[in-house]
Amino acid sequence: MEVPFYTSADRNKEAIGDALSAHLARAANVLEIGSGSGQHAIYLCQRFSHLQWQVTEQGASLEGLRLAVGLAVDQSGCENIQPPFELDVSSYVGSENAYAFVYSANTAHIMGIEEVKSTFKIVNRCMAADGLYALYGPFKENGQHNSEGNVAFDEALRSEDPKMGIRDVTELSEIAMSSGLALLKQIDMPSNNRILLWQKA
Ligand SMILES: C[S@@+](CC[C@H](N)C(=O)[O-])C[C@H]1O[C@@H](n2cnc3c(N)ncnc32)[C@H](O)[C@@H]1O
Repeated sequence: MEVPFYTSADRNKEAIGDALSAHLARAANVLEIGSGSGQHAIYLCQRFSHLQWQVTEQGASLEGLRLAVGLAVDQSGCENIQPPFELDVSSYVGSENAYAFVYSANTAHIMGIEEVKSTFKIVNRCMAADGLYALYGPFKENGQHNSEGNVAFDEALRSEDPKMGIRDVTELSEIAMSSGLALLKQIDMPSNNRILLWQKA
């Protein structure tokens, strides 16, 4: 099996670190949902060495994440990234109030809407009362895309699998609210992406 590597994750990791810097500086531990190749976690663990970062993946992608993280730990000696475990949002329960920060990138448009709902429930259960949840990716607002590129990306996703698609911030806010979370702020990011920061309502 090849070690997964995403050019996009390499390109956007620094801007994500800059945008979340003040919040991550105050957090002790992070739960990441849908870590993929682990590139964001590996970079952010090196940059914010006080963090204990838990990477996770769903079944089919877990092995690739294990390989990528194992290699990065061997090469960099980075000790604050925890060995990956399996987390599928459809079935994961997790411990209450276990994490100061929850992070997920580029997952909301890949998951079906029921999985998106499950993610917010997991966040509300596993995140500390004063914690934050950062969701990175492309989003619509009030039904409007913020670029032609995202219109095309949304169409491509939906034609590949109708359950996928770029989510609307308004719809996400309603889902989040029903799970006890409220939108704290949106941060505009390069390439027409955003970070949505959520806190407990
Ligand atoms: C586009 S990739 C993003 C990977 C990485 N976060 C990044 O930004 O490079 C979407 C990720 O969501 C994960 N995912 C999809 N459905 C999931 C589920 N039900 N539970 C947990 N993760 C899921 C996939 O396995 C995949 O790694």
